[in-house]
Amino acid sequence: MILEANMNNNLIYDIDLSKIPKHIAIIMDGNGRWAKSRFLPRAAGHKAGVETIREIVKEASRLGIKHLTLYAFSTENWKRPKPEVDTLMKLLSMYLQNEVNELHKNNVKLTAIGITKELPSICIEKLNYAEELTKNNAGINLNLALNYGGRADIKNAFIDILKDYKSGKIDINDIDEGIIKNYLSTKSIPDPELVIRTSGEQRLSNFLLWEVAYSEFYYTDIHWPDFNKEELQKALFVYQNRDRRFGGLK
Ligand code: IPE
Ligand code: IPE
Ligand code: MG
Repeated sequence: MILEANMNNNLIYDIDLSKIPKHIAIIMDGNGRWAKSRFLPRAAGHKAGVETIREIVKEASRLGIKHLTLYAFSTENWKRPKPEVDTLMKLLSMYLQNEVNELHKNNVKLTAIGITKELPSICIEKLNYAEELTKNNAGINLNLALNYGGRADIKNAFIDILKDYKSGKIDINDIDEGIIKNYLSTKSIPDPELVIRTSGEQRLSNFLLWEVAYSEFYYTDIHWPDFNKEELQKALFVYQNRDRRFGGLK
């Protein structure tokens, strides 16, 4: 149901603010198609996508979401033509540079998952700075998935588990699902209750493979640069009206 107006909370959808998911993960897709439909270069779509990030972080924070993971660059995105990869890295570096003070002022804690050591050094430096500056902030955790791949993350967890097994730090009998989670790059955040993908594709593209076991999925045809706070509210409204069973009966 769309509300006529809810002046108190600025909500256009009838969302229960006491039942907001702790963690929302978003596959920000469709920058290229957004640009193409406007006869613009793909880079213009990526640039417009950064604006959407600003709006969504603000709205997610306002709605009380604790963790917001944004899929910004996958381990497979290196396959794109070098000029596009360079543009994406430049935009990441600019985003970190331009936003870090504002994020800090708004009590946002910035973190990253993925093989960040393979990013260009300028991005690594800015990322380290932003993470260090904001590490004690108690507001929303903006978690950027950068050079992230679910399979790579699980593979790295395997390696670390085997190392700790070899050194005697863990025993085979210790290994349970909770221990495995502790070796993933998402160890300090809960699994996402809701995964949103923009731009019509209905696939995971190697995002959070372990963590999405019982996530709700929300797909929209809207391209990421056109996604906005109302669309986020709509996704939350749909989510809140789902019947989550976790394999049981309800
Ligand atoms: C999402 O938009 C941004 C990244 C994957 C980095 P795309 O660049 O994938 O846009 P489409 O899917 O080609 O429209
Ligand atoms: C997924 O989008 C990765 C990000 C949004 C960063 P892609 O555009 O790379 O995914 P595919 O290639 O359509 O599966
Ligand atoms: Mg895409």
